[in-house]
Amino acid sequence: MPQILELIRGDHDFIRGLFDELESNPDTRDVRCITLRRELPGHMYAEEATLYARLRDVVPEEIRQSLAEHTETRETLARFEVIPLRDDAWMPALRDLRKLVEAHFTSEEREVFTRAEHHISPAELFGLGEMFEQEKQKAAQFAVV
Ligand SMILES: [Fe+2]
Ligand SMILES: [Fe+2]
Repeated sequence: MPQILELIRGDHDFIRGLFDELESNPDTRDVRCITLRRELPGHMYAEEATLYARLRDVVPEEIRQSLAEHTETRETLARFEVIPLRDDAWMPALRDLRKLVEAHFTSEEREVFTRAEHHISPAELFGLGEMFEQEKQKAAQFAVV
């Protein structure tokens, strides 16, 4: 089982790829929207239940900031997903969402990963990886937002 930071980075790369595809390929947009709608909330939920919960008391300011970014992402996703695919507002809304999400991924990979590697042992990072996978499955099952 890969350690949690590798799993998170893998999710980030997958979602970056989804955004690329959503922007560039109109033919697969409907399916990719469904995938994004499942993957992005599931990813954030699993992070909050594992890595964020573990670091909350250790680096409260970083985690508070990350949680605020999750809230903003959820709100922006909720506004995006009600826009019809053929509406003129769809592409600008997609680009806004993408910008927000990718900025969050970058700061997570820089700030939060550095703190995690500093404060959490490799063995515990592996254990958190297992929990992360379980939480994602739970999120998919109950469609947690
Ligand atoms: Fe996150
Ligand atoms: Fe993330």
